[in-house]
Amino acid sequence: MASTDLRGRDFITLMEFDREEIETILDTAFDLKRKLIRGEPHKLLDGKTLFMLFYNTSLRTRNSFEVGMQQLGGHAIFLQPGAVYTPALPGEEIAYTTERVSDVARVLSEMGHGIAIRIYGAKTGWMYGKGNLLIREFARWARIPVINMEDDMYHPCQALADLMVMIEKLGELRGKKFVMSWAYSGSVEKPLAVPQSAIIAASFFGMDITLAHPKGFDLDPNVLNFVEKNVKRYGGSFRVVHDMDEAFKDADVVYPKSWTVQPTDGSGPMDPEKAKELFEANKHWITTKEKMELTNGAIYMHCLPADRGMEVTDEVIDGPNSVVFEEAGNRLHAQKGLLALIL
Ligand code: CP
Repeated sequence: MASTDLRGRDFITLMEFDREEIETILDTAFDLKRKLIRGEPHKLLDGKTLFMLFYNTSLRTRNSFEVGMQQLGGHAIFLQPGAVYTPALPGEEIAYTTERVSDVARVLSEMGHGIAIRIYGAKTGWMYGKGNLLIREFARWARIPVINMEDDMYHPCQALADLMVMIEKLGELRGKKFVMSWAYSGSVEKPLAVPQSAIIAASFFGMDITLAHPKGFDLDPNVLNFVEKNVKRYGGSFRVVHDMDEAFKDADVVYPKSWTVQPTDGSGPMDPEKAKELFEANKHWITTKEKMELTNGAIYMHCLPADRGMEVTDEVIDGPNSVVFEEAGNRLHAQKGLLALIL
Protein backbone atom coordinates (compact mmCIF):
# COMPACT_ATOMS: atom_id res chain seq x y z
CA MET A 1 0.00 0.00 0.00
CA ALA A 2 1.27 3.46 -0.93
CA SER A 3 1.84 5.89 1.94
CA THR A 4 3.00 9.49 1.63
CA ASP A 5 2.77 12.46 3.99
CA LEU A 6 0.70 15.14 2.26
CA ARG A 7 0.14 17.51 5.18
CA GLY A 8 0.14 21.17 4.14
CA ARG A 9 -0.06 20.50 0.40
CA ASP A 10 -2.29 22.53 -1.91
CA PHE A 11 -4.62 20.54 -4.17
CA ILE A 12 -5.03 22.44 -7.44
CA THR A 13 -4.42 19.82 -10.12
CA LEU A 14 -3.46 16.13 -10.08
CA MET A 15 -0.59 17.10 -12.40
CA GLU A 16 1.30 18.27 -9.29
CA PHE A 17 1.08 14.83 -7.65
CA ASP A 18 2.56 11.44 -8.45
CA ARG A 19 0.82 8.09 -8.49
CA GLU A 20 1.98 7.11 -5.01
CA GLU A 21 0.47 10.31 -3.60
CA ILE A 22 -2.80 9.84 -5.48
CA GLU A 23 -2.98 6.23 -4.26
CA THR A 24 -2.45 7.46 -0.70
CA ILE A 25 -5.47 9.77 -1.04
CA LEU A 26 -7.58 6.99 -2.59
CA ASP A 27 -6.54 4.43 0.08
CA THR A 28 -7.51 6.92 2.79
CA ALA A 29 -10.81 7.68 1.04
CA PHE A 30 -11.72 3.98 0.79
CA ASP A 31 -10.73 3.46 4.43
CA LEU A 32 -12.92 6.36 5.60
CA LYS A 33 -15.79 5.14 3.40
CA ARG A 34 -15.60 1.71 5.07
CA LYS A 35 -15.44 3.34 8.52
CA LEU A 36 -18.56 5.40 7.76
CA ILE A 37 -20.45 2.32 6.56
CA ARG A 38 -19.45 0.38 9.70
CA GLY A 39 -20.29 3.31 11.97
CA GLU A 40 -16.70 3.56 13.23
CA PRO A 41 -15.63 6.97 14.58
CA HIS A 42 -13.17 8.86 12.41
CA LYS A 43 -13.06 12.40 13.72
CA LEU A 44 -9.60 13.10 12.32
CA LEU A 45 -10.15 16.85 11.93
CA ASP A 46 -11.60 17.68 15.34
CA GLY A 47 -11.86 21.45 15.74
CA LYS A 48 -10.57 22.21 12.24
CA THR A 49 -12.23 24.68 9.86
CA LEU A 50 -12.45 24.74 6.07
CA PHE A 51 -13.44 28.00 4.36
CA MET A 52 -15.34 27.37 1.11
CA LEU A 53 -15.49 30.21 -1.37
CA PHE A 54 -18.00 29.65 -4.19
CA TYR A 55 -18.08 32.11 -7.11
CA ASN A 56 -20.37 29.59 -8.95
CA THR A 57 -23.35 27.43 -8.05
CA SER A 58 -22.97 23.88 -6.76
CA LEU A 59 -24.98 20.97 -5.40
CA ARG A 60 -22.46 18.12 -5.09
CA THR A 61 -19.28 20.01 -4.25
CA ARG A 62 -20.72 22.23 -1.55
CA ASN A 63 -22.66 19.48 0.19
CA SER A 64 -19.91 16.85 -0.01
CA PHE A 65 -17.36 19.25 1.52
CA GLU A 66 -19.77 20.41 4.24
CA VAL A 67 -20.85 16.90 5.18
CA GLY A 68 -17.29 15.60 4.91
CA MET A 69 -15.89 18.20 7.30
CA GLN A 70 -18.74 17.55 9.75
CA GLN A 71 -18.14 13.76 9.65
CA LEU A 72 -14.43 14.34 10.27
CA GLY A 73 -15.24 16.38 13.38
CA GLY A 74 -14.50 19.74 11.80
CA HIS A 75 -16.56 22.52 10.33
CA ALA A 76 -17.00 24.04 6.87
CA ILE A 77 -17.96 27.68 6.37
CA PHE A 78 -19.76 28.67 3.15
CA LEU A 79 -18.60 32.01 1.72
CA GLN A 80 -20.26 33.51 -1.32
CA PRO A 81 -18.83 36.57 -3.08
CA GLY A 82 -21.27 39.38 -2.45
CA ALA A 83 -21.96 38.07 1.04
CA VAL A 84 -18.28 38.75 1.86
CA TYR A 85 -15.99 41.35 0.25
CA THR A 86 -15.36 39.62 -3.07
CA PRO A 87 -11.72 38.48 -3.27
CA ALA A 88 -10.14 40.16 -6.29
CA LEU A 89 -6.79 40.18 -8.07
CA PRO A 90 -4.63 43.34 -7.99
CA GLY A 91 -5.93 45.78 -10.58
CA GLU A 92 -9.41 44.27 -10.55
CA GLU A 93 -10.55 45.61 -7.22
CA ILE A 94 -13.70 47.69 -6.89
CA ALA A 95 -13.53 50.16 -4.02
CA TYR A 96 -15.41 49.10 -0.90
CA THR A 97 -16.89 45.90 -2.43
CA THR A 98 -13.82 43.73 -3.03
CA GLU A 99 -10.76 42.79 -1.02
CA ARG A 100 -7.37 41.86 -2.44
CA VAL A 101 -6.82 38.07 -2.57
CA SER A 102 -3.50 38.43 -0.73
CA ASP A 103 -5.33 40.03 2.21
CA VAL A 104 -8.23 37.54 2.23
CA ALA A 105 -5.85 34.57 2.09
CA ARG A 106 -3.73 35.86 4.98
CA VAL A 107 -6.76 36.71 7.14
CA LEU A 108 -8.36 33.27 6.65
CA SER A 109 -4.99 31.64 7.40
CA GLU A 110 -5.13 33.23 10.87
CA MET A 111 -8.50 31.58 11.60
CA GLY A 112 -8.83 28.22 9.88
CA HIS A 113 -7.04 25.23 8.39
CA GLY A 114 -7.94 25.19 4.69
CA ILE A 115 -9.41 27.33 1.90
CA ALA A 116 -11.41 25.74 -0.92
CA ILE A 117 -12.38 27.76 -4.01
CA ARG A 118 -14.63 27.34 -7.06
CA ILE A 119 -14.31 29.83 -9.90
CA TYR A 120 -14.83 29.51 -13.66
CA GLY A 121 -16.91 30.67 -16.59
CA ALA A 122 -18.80 33.95 -16.47
CA LYS A 123 -17.03 34.89 -13.21
CA THR A 124 -13.76 35.04 -15.14
CA GLY A 125 -15.20 36.45 -18.38
CA TRP A 126 -14.68 32.99 -19.93
CA MET A 127 -10.94 33.67 -20.16
CA TYR A 128 -9.31 30.25 -19.95
CA GLY A 129 -6.88 30.04 -17.03
CA LYS A 130 -8.14 33.09 -15.14
CA GLY A 131 -9.91 31.05 -12.46
CA ASN A 132 -6.81 28.91 -11.98
CA LEU A 133 -4.75 32.09 -11.67
CA LEU A 134 -6.96 33.35 -8.85
CA ILE A 135 -6.73 30.04 -7.00
CA ARG A 136 -2.95 30.09 -7.37
CA GLU A 137 -2.88 33.63 -6.00
CA PHE A 138 -4.72 32.33 -2.92
CA ALA A 139 -2.18 29.51 -2.65
CA ARG A 140 0.70 32.00 -2.94
CA TRP A 141 -0.48 33.96 0.09
CA ALA A 142 -2.26 31.40 2.30
CA ARG A 143 -0.32 29.63 5.04
CA ILE A 144 -2.91 26.83 4.95
CA PRO A 145 -3.74 24.38 2.12
CA VAL A 146 -5.78 25.66 -0.82
CA ILE A 147 -8.14 23.24 -2.58
CA ASN A 148 -9.48 23.67 -6.11
CA MET A 149 -13.24 22.95 -6.07
CA GLU A 150 -13.29 23.48 -9.89
CA ASP A 151 -11.71 26.20 -11.93
CA ASP A 152 -11.62 26.72 -15.69
CA MET A 153 -8.81 24.17 -16.15
CA TYR A 154 -9.17 21.45 -13.52
CA HIS A 155 -11.69 19.71 -11.26
CA PRO A 156 -9.32 17.40 -9.33
CA CYS A 157 -11.82 16.51 -6.57
CA GLN A 158 -14.21 15.21 -9.23
CA ALA A 159 -11.34 13.20 -10.72
CA LEU A 160 -10.65 11.49 -7.36
CA ALA A 161 -14.31 10.44 -7.12
CA ASP A 162 -14.17 9.25 -10.74
CA LEU A 163 -11.15 7.05 -9.96
CA MET A 164 -12.91 5.63 -6.89
CA VAL A 165 -16.02 4.55 -8.80
CA MET A 166 -13.93 3.01 -11.60
CA ILE A 167 -11.88 1.00 -9.07
CA GLU A 168 -15.07 -0.12 -7.31
CA LYS A 169 -16.71 -1.25 -10.55
CA LEU A 170 -13.74 -2.55 -12.56
CA GLY A 171 -11.08 -3.46 -10.01
CA GLU A 172 -7.68 -3.18 -11.70
CA LEU A 173 -7.76 -0.24 -14.13
CA ARG A 174 -4.63 -1.22 -16.07
CA GLY A 175 -5.51 -2.10 -19.68
CA LYS A 176 -9.13 -0.96 -19.40
CA LYS A 177 -10.46 1.23 -22.20
CA PHE A 178 -11.48 4.65 -20.86
CA VAL A 179 -13.41 6.95 -23.20
CA MET A 180 -13.71 10.64 -22.44
CA SER A 181 -16.11 11.94 -25.05
CA TRP A 182 -17.59 15.31 -25.88
CA ALA A 183 -21.41 15.39 -25.82
CA TYR A 184 -23.94 17.89 -27.12
CA SER A 185 -25.61 20.43 -24.84
CA GLY A 186 -27.99 23.30 -25.48
CA SER A 187 -25.64 25.48 -23.40
CA VAL A 188 -22.11 26.39 -24.47
CA GLU A 189 -21.19 27.49 -20.93
CA LYS A 190 -19.24 24.33 -20.15
CA PRO A 191 -15.68 24.57 -18.81
CA LEU A 192 -12.90 22.15 -19.79
CA ALA A 193 -12.15 21.23 -16.19
CA VAL A 194 -13.89 17.84 -15.97
CA PRO A 195 -12.67 16.22 -19.21
CA GLN A 196 -9.12 17.49 -18.65
CA SER A 197 -9.02 16.20 -15.08
CA ALA A 198 -10.57 12.87 -16.07
CA ILE A 199 -7.91 12.06 -18.68
CA ILE A 200 -5.15 13.28 -16.36
CA ALA A 201 -6.46 10.94 -13.63
CA ALA A 202 -6.78 7.94 -15.95
CA SER A 203 -3.21 8.45 -17.20
CA PHE A 204 -1.78 7.55 -13.77
CA PHE A 205 -3.35 4.07 -13.81
CA GLY A 206 -2.30 2.38 -17.06
CA MET A 207 -5.64 2.86 -18.81
CA ASP A 208 -6.08 2.90 -22.59
CA ILE A 209 -7.48 6.40 -22.95
CA THR A 210 -9.52 7.53 -25.94
CA LEU A 211 -10.45 11.20 -26.11
CA ALA A 212 -13.31 11.74 -28.57
CA HIS A 213 -14.66 15.03 -29.81
CA PRO A 214 -15.80 16.75 -33.00
CA LYS A 215 -13.12 18.77 -34.78
CA GLY A 216 -12.69 22.18 -33.13
CA PHE A 217 -13.30 21.02 -29.56
CA ASP A 218 -9.61 20.55 -28.70
CA LEU A 219 -8.54 20.48 -25.08
CA ASP A 220 -5.52 22.34 -23.70
CA PRO A 221 -2.34 21.06 -25.47
CA ASN A 222 -0.42 21.24 -22.17
CA VAL A 223 -2.88 18.74 -20.68
CA LEU A 224 -2.64 16.48 -23.74
CA ASN A 225 1.17 16.58 -23.54
CA PHE A 226 1.04 15.71 -19.85
CA VAL A 227 -1.25 12.74 -20.56
CA GLU A 228 1.03 11.57 -23.39
CA LYS A 229 4.05 11.69 -21.06
CA ASN A 230 2.19 10.09 -18.16
CA VAL A 231 1.09 7.04 -20.15
CA LYS A 232 4.74 6.56 -21.14
CA ARG A 233 5.69 6.72 -17.44
CA TYR A 234 2.87 4.62 -15.99
CA GLY A 235 1.74 2.48 -18.94
CA GLY A 236 -1.43 2.51 -21.00
CA SER A 237 -2.06 4.50 -24.15
CA PHE A 238 -3.65 7.72 -25.39
CA ARG A 239 -5.32 8.60 -28.68
CA VAL A 240 -7.71 11.25 -29.97
CA VAL A 241 -10.58 10.42 -32.37
CA HIS A 242 -13.37 12.47 -33.91
CA ASP A 243 -16.09 9.83 -34.08
CA MET A 244 -18.22 8.87 -31.09
CA ASP A 245 -19.11 5.38 -32.37
CA GLU A 246 -15.46 4.57 -33.07
CA ALA A 247 -14.54 5.72 -29.55
CA PHE A 248 -17.27 3.67 -27.85
CA LYS A 249 -16.29 0.40 -29.56
CA ASP A 250 -15.16 -2.10 -26.88
CA ALA A 251 -14.96 0.58 -24.17
CA ASP A 252 -14.97 -0.45 -20.50
CA VAL A 253 -15.80 3.08 -19.33
CA VAL A 254 -17.56 5.90 -21.18
CA TYR A 255 -17.63 9.44 -19.80
CA PRO A 256 -19.54 11.60 -22.32
CA LYS A 257 -19.71 15.21 -21.19
CA SER A 258 -20.10 18.56 -22.89
CA TRP A 259 -17.32 21.13 -22.96
CA THR A 260 -17.01 24.43 -24.73
CA VAL A 261 -14.89 25.73 -27.60
CA GLN A 262 -12.42 28.31 -26.37
CA PRO A 263 -8.84 29.47 -26.89
CA THR A 264 -6.52 27.85 -24.35
CA ASP A 265 -3.54 30.07 -25.23
CA GLY A 266 -4.80 33.24 -23.54
CA SER A 267 -5.56 34.90 -26.90
CA GLY A 268 -9.14 35.77 -25.91
CA PRO A 269 -12.34 34.67 -24.23
CA MET A 270 -14.80 32.03 -25.38
CA ASP A 271 -16.86 33.31 -28.34
CA PRO A 272 -20.44 32.17 -27.60
CA GLU A 273 -21.65 32.61 -31.20
CA LYS A 274 -18.81 30.54 -32.66
CA ALA A 275 -19.26 27.92 -29.92
CA LYS A 276 -23.03 27.72 -30.51
CA GLU A 277 -22.50 27.14 -34.22
CA LEU A 278 -20.14 24.22 -33.56
CA PHE A 279 -22.39 22.79 -30.85
CA GLU A 280 -25.49 22.85 -33.09
CA ALA A 281 -23.59 21.06 -35.88
CA ASN A 282 -22.90 18.17 -33.50
CA LYS A 283 -26.28 17.38 -31.91
CA HIS A 284 -25.80 13.71 -32.77
CA TRP A 285 -23.09 13.40 -30.07
CA ILE A 286 -25.60 12.00 -27.59
CA THR A 287 -25.19 8.79 -25.60
CA THR A 288 -27.99 6.39 -26.48
CA LYS A 289 -28.71 2.72 -25.77
CA GLU A 290 -27.49 1.93 -29.32
CA LYS A 291 -24.14 3.62 -28.64
CA MET A 292 -23.80 1.78 -25.31
CA GLU A 293 -24.28 -1.50 -27.21
CA LEU A 294 -21.03 -0.81 -29.08
CA THR A 295 -19.08 -0.98 -25.80
CA ASN A 296 -17.72 -3.87 -23.79
CA GLY A 297 -20.61 -3.52 -21.31
CA ALA A 298 -19.10 -0.17 -20.28
CA ILE A 299 -20.06 1.73 -17.18
CA TYR A 300 -21.58 5.12 -17.95
CA MET A 301 -20.07 8.03 -15.99
CA HIS A 302 -20.98 11.70 -15.68
CA CYS A 303 -19.95 14.30 -13.10
CA LEU A 304 -23.51 15.73 -13.01
CA PRO A 305 -25.52 17.80 -13.53
CA ALA A 306 -26.21 16.08 -16.88
CA ASP A 307 -28.18 17.64 -19.71
CA ARG A 308 -30.75 14.91 -20.23
CA GLY A 309 -32.04 14.48 -23.77
CA MET A 310 -28.94 16.30 -25.07
CA GLU A 311 -25.79 14.73 -23.59
CA VAL A 312 -27.53 11.44 -22.79
CA THR A 313 -30.91 9.72 -22.97
CA ASP A 314 -32.86 8.95 -19.78
CA GLU A 315 -32.65 5.28 -20.73
CA VAL A 316 -28.84 5.32 -20.40
CA ILE A 317 -28.37 7.60 -17.40
CA ASP A 318 -31.11 5.79 -15.47
CA GLY A 319 -30.08 2.40 -16.86
CA PRO A 320 -28.17 -0.53 -15.38
CA ASN A 321 -24.71 0.59 -16.57
CA SER A 322 -24.97 4.08 -15.12
CA VAL A 323 -22.82 4.70 -12.03
CA VAL A 324 -23.47 8.43 -11.80
CA PHE A 325 -25.01 8.46 -8.34
CA GLU A 326 -22.28 6.31 -6.78
CA GLU A 327 -19.79 8.58 -8.56
CA ALA A 328 -21.46 11.63 -6.99
CA GLY A 329 -21.53 9.89 -3.60
CA ASN A 330 -17.81 9.26 -3.86
CA ARG A 331 -17.23 13.01 -3.89
CA LEU A 332 -17.86 12.82 -0.14
CA HIS A 333 -15.43 9.97 0.49
CA ALA A 334 -12.71 11.19 -1.90
CA GLN A 335 -12.66 14.65 -0.34
CA LYS A 336 -12.67 13.23 3.19
CA GLY A 337 -9.55 11.26 2.27
CA LEU A 338 -7.96 14.40 0.84
CA LEU A 339 -8.93 16.64 3.77
CA ALA A 340 -7.76 14.13 6.37
CA LEU A 341 -4.33 14.06 4.74
CA ILE A 342 -3.66 17.68 3.83
CA LEU A 343 -5.33 19.64 6.66
N1 CP B 1 -19.91 17.62 -10.30
C1 CP B 1 -19.96 18.79 -9.62
O1 CP B 1 -18.95 19.44 -9.37
O2 CP B 1 -21.22 19.13 -9.22
P1 CP B 1 -21.66 20.55 -8.63
O3 CP B 1 -21.51 21.57 -9.72
O4 CP B 1 -23.10 20.37 -8.21
O5 CP B 1 -20.78 20.87 -7.46
